[in-house]
Amino acid sequence: MIEFTVNGRKRSADVEPEMPLLWVLRDVLDVKGPKYGCGIAQCGACTVHLNGEPVRSCSVPASAAAGQNVLTIEGLAQRGRMHPVQKAWIDHQVPQCGYCQSGQIMAAVALLKKNPNPSDRDIDAAMTNLCRCGTYARIRTAIHAAAQSMKPAKA
Ligand code: FES
Ligand code: FES
Repeated sequence: MIEFTVNGRKRSADVEPEMPLLWVLRDVLDVKGPKYGCGIAQCGACTVHLNGEPVRSCSVPASAAAGQNVLTIEGLAQRGRMHPVQKAWIDHQVPQCGYCQSGQIMAAVALLKKNPNPSDRDIDAAMTNLCRCGTYARIRTAIHAAAQSMKPAKA
């Protein structure tokens, strides 16, 4: 039995310790935001945060999440308010098919936490998630917009 926190809620799952976290989330706990793309830590569709750090949950064993905090896209909005990255994604109409986008958003949130004002180069270096629809230019634009909107207001 593995116990951990998912989006602020204590959850438990009776799974083998080596089961990938992505499987636990999607198939056992019915948290379907993180997606399965490649299964080998290459595409980023399964990106979630583990204790605030982005991880590719297809390649993280359930045992690594025991007692830890997992955040998925379902937990990003707070008190009914979208995260600024989610808002920027809508404002700039980033998704096409949408399949990769929950992972892209989780990666972008993690980037802005570390680097609140990333350059194009920083974005290209940090955003290694793949998008078959080629939404990379819009992702970049939306990250810049989110960074602007998250700047503290001048006194
Ligand atoms: S499904 Fe995890 S990185 Fe592709
Ligand atoms: S929006 Fe289709 S794969 Fe990224």
